[in-house]
Amino acid sequence: MDGKGILIEGLRKRYGQGDTAVDALKGVDMHVEPGEVVGLIGPSGSGKSTLLKCLGAVIDPTAGSMTLGGEVIYDNGWKVRDLRALRRDKIGFVFQAPYLIPFIDVTDNVALLPMLARVPNAEARKRALDLLAALDVQHRAKAMPSQLSGGEQQRVAIARGLVNHPPVILADEPTAPLDSERAMAVIRILNDMARKFETAVIVVTHDEKIIPTFKRIYHIRDGVTHEEAGEGRGFQ
Ligand SMILES: Nc1ncnc2c1ncn2[C@@H]1O[C@H](COP(=O)(O)OP(=O)(O)O)[C@@H](O)[C@H]1O
Ligand SMILES: [Mg+2]
Repeated sequence: MDGKGILIEGLRKRYGQGDTAVDALKGVDMHVEPGEVVGLIGPSGSGKSTLLKCLGAVIDPTAGSMTLGGEVIYDNGWKVRDLRALRRDKIGFVFQAPYLIPFIDVTDNVALLPMLARVPNAEARKRALDLLAALDVQHRAKAMPSQLSGGEQQRVAIARGLVNHPPVILADEPTAPLDSERAMAVIRILNDMARKFETAVIVVTHDEKIIPTFKRIYHIRDGVTHEEAGEGRGFQ
């Protein structure tokens, strides 16, 4: 670990309090190098989404520490003042559900984030179209989200998660609605982006098709992680 990438130490998350409290994370340790794509695997209710939400500054952890891109963002409390800016500038999210903006077209859904980050409009659109092409949905660039199939919407959402070249990408079951060829294309793109932009990527998945691509896998069970070597074919 050279200080970049992702480092998580002793991370805990308790939902609620008293008799109804749920300890969803019970001391998670994990690291992801820049340029690395790791898998996070575990049964339903094991804490996978909770971990990604803590790391993505969507919910507050209870204790522990998290370092992103060399910056300590949490150490028994948030260490960054502007969590919105942290989410916008450092983290690319790819959720299970696509959550596209319904009243703007596909290209603008992807180009909006770089535009908000003050990338000139033409450049933002070019980046969006390049990613849409890589994900094989460029023919839908001018469509509205409601006109797309579920798989197409998911690929647009993936383009949106990658478009700002964030140092960290958090993907929660990104290939769930995709057929195996498209699922592999998504994993290939995540690997390419990771290598090209030194991105640290965590992919939560149950998908048997993509699990053999990971070089390292974290298993999570009852809020505790265990590291394992993957089959590690990766994409070279
Ligand atoms: N907002 C919440 N309030 C209370 N308990 C929650 C909340 N979200 C998740 N949990 C609980 O935390 C545990 C981990 O959930 P989650 O992180 O969603 O697991 P996974 O994504 O692995 O299925 C589960 O026991 C779940 O019921
Ligand atoms: Mg989940």
